This record gives sequence, C-alpha cells and structure tokens, in this order.
Amino acid sequence: MKITILGGGGFLGRKLAARLAKDGTLGGRPITGLTLFDLAAPAAFAAPFPLRCLGGDVADPAAVAEAIPPGTEVVFHLAAVVSAAAEADYDLGMKVNLQGTLAVLAACRALGTKPRVIFTSSVASFGGGQEAVVPDDGRQVPTNSYGAQKAIGELLLQDATRKGFLDAVNIRLPTVMVRPGRPNKAASSFVSAVVREPLLGLSTDCPVPPEFAVWICSPRSAMEWFLHAATMDTSGMGIDRGINPPGRSATVAKMLEALETVAGSAAREKVGFAFDREVFDIVAGWPAAFDATRARRLGFVEQESLEDLVHAFIEDDLAATRAERGL
Ligand SMILES: NC(=O)c1ccc[n+]([C@@H]2O[C@H](COP(=O)([O-])OP(=O)(O)OC[C@H]3O[C@@H](n4cnc5c(N)ncnc54)[C@H](O)[C@@H]3O)[C@@H](O)[C@H]2O)c1
Repeated sequence: MKITILGGGGFLGRKLAARLAKDGTLGGRPITGLTLFDLAAPAAFAAPFPLRCLGGDVADPAAVAEAIPPGTEVVFHLAAVVSAAAEADYDLGMKVNLQGTLAVLAACRALGTKPRVIFTSSVASFGGGQEAVVPDDGRQVPTNSYGAQKAIGELLLQDATRKGFLDAVNIRLPTVMVRPGRPNKAASSFVSAVVREPLLGLSTDCPVPPEFAVWICSPRSAMEWFLHAATMDTSGMGIDRGINPPGRSATVAKMLEALETVAGSAAREKVGFAFDREVFDIVAGWPAAFDATRARRLGFVEQESLEDLVHAFIEDDLAATRAERGL
C-alpha cells in the first residue's frame, strides 16, 4: 500500500510517519512506499519501506501531483497554515488552505483510483463558543478565516467523494495537546504551553482565564483516529464525510490539576495568567464540547484522561523537546 502525508514535516505529520514506520503495515496490509511532502523536504529516517521526502508548495498542482504518484491508496492531507497565522495573513491562508486543498483534490482525481483522503479539519470550523455543545449534525459557522477555509475544504472533498473521485474522511480535530517543541502561531498554543513549559522547568503566562474550556485530544488519540480513518469501511458514513471525534472538554484549571497530580505543585506554580485580547478573541468563538456519538458508533476511540495525556507527553516527547530547545 502506497501512502502520502502532505504536511509530513509538521507536528502530527512527523508523528504519523513515525507510527507508520514502526507498524510497517496499515489495516493489516504491508506499506510499500511512503511519501512525505512539506514546504521543506522532511528529514528522512529509517523505515521498513521505501521513503520519499519531497519539498514543495501544496498550492502548486504539479508539486502535489508528484507527491501523490499512481498507485497511492491513502493520502493524509495535513498541510496547512494554522489558525492565528491564517487570521494574520488572509492571502496566505486562502492560498495554502483553500488552493492547496483544491490541488490535492485534483491530484487524487487524476489517479482515477479513488484514494482514501484523510483531511484534518478543525474544531475552529465551528462557532458557538464556550456555551456550545456541538451535535453531530451541528452547522459549521466559523468565526475565523482558518475555520472557514477548513469548512470549505471539507465540502469540496465531500462532494469529490460523492462524484467518485476519491474517498474522504474529514476529521475535525480538537486542539491537540501536548504539542512538543516551542510555542507556535496557533491561537491555541497556550493549551500545550501550560503543561509543556512547566514540565521543562519554565514559566508561562496563560492568555485566557482558568475557567476557560477547550475541546482537546492527545497526539496519541489523533494517531489512532488517523489510522482508523484510513482503514475504516466508509460505506456507513453515507454522504456525510465529517467526523467530530470523541475528544475531551477541559478547562485550563483542570489541565493544571492534572499537571499538579503528575508533576507536583512546583510545576503548577510555573503558570501565571496574563489576559491576551487577540488570542482570546480567536479561541473564544471555538466550541468547547461536542456530542461525538456518530464518531463513537463509527469506531473512533475515546480520548484518554488528562493525567494519562500528561504522562504520555513525558514518555513520548519531553526528552526530545528538552534537547531541541537546548534545555
Ligand atoms: N495541532 C492541532 O491542535 C490541530 C487542531 C485542529 C486541526 N489541526 C490540523 O491538523 C493538521 C496538522 O497540524 P499540525 O499541528 O501538525 O500543524 P503543523 O503546522 O505542525 O504542520 C502543518 C505542516 O504544513 C506545512 N505547510 C504549511 N504551508 C505549506 C505549503 N504551502 N505547502 C506544503 N506544506 C505546507 C507546514 O510546513 C507544516 O509542517 C493541520 O491541517 C491543522 O490545521 C491541528
């Protein structure tokens, strides 16, 4: 089975590539080739199958066509300009998040073999804010350009599925925590920072109040959902290719409680609060809870507890993050 990861050099793309290399198989079938595609060619690593690492722009149809060669059965489309960056630079967001998805659609269509496409949409494609509990058939009324671009991408891929060009599963990812490395340009960067920075021995200021709730998942859950989306029988989905996966609603206070349980009160005390209007205005529109009944019925596994999530970061990513940041 040939697989392509667009955005393969990013946080989730790298984790997914590592998981595929570890497993060597997908859905019980051997992986016969993996292409990683990102703005800069992702670094190669040891894998039990041929690995291609390509650099290019996902909005460039020729580059995307090269990244999705004939015989490709599964395409993970993760390449994106993330929330605050797409809000700050409207043109760049439209180019990458919209034109990029159109290029992916065209390349998959040109194969003529209906590849499975897993598209990472986002909780940010919904509105409603803190009060909302989004039902499975909730409307996407985004309060930011990134969310609008993701919602449009979903519709395009859903329609391409109906036309028989490809076979899409659009996963509306919760905010993934704990993100390793450094703070980034996602408006939700603080969600990871309030756990990661104290575990690195560093102080951080949270830009939203402690009672602020976020719909979250762990990188481990995201990986399970990606693999399930790549291998599940999609006939039960019908025309509706959007999935609200079973994440978890968590306030910042609950995250800090979990941090304290795992790492002690000294870690907890490294987090202060400094309200940031710009960040708050973006994240305040995102719903903090979903029903997610349909995803459970379709076999998407439940998110682990916050304590387990903190332990998982320590096991999977803390040492590498420390090394990367020279700490
Ligand atoms: N991490 C989260 O909390 C979260 C939540 C919801 C949705 N998502 C979505 O999941 C996907 C992966 O997220 P992530 O956290 O790994 O983000 P990331 O920023 O680490 O990875 C995205 C990758 O896309 C690449 N990219 C950007 N512009 C590109 C272009 N023009 N051509 C080719 N590649 C380009 C970036 O270089 C980056 O490596 C994204 O689509 C994101 O919108 C993530």
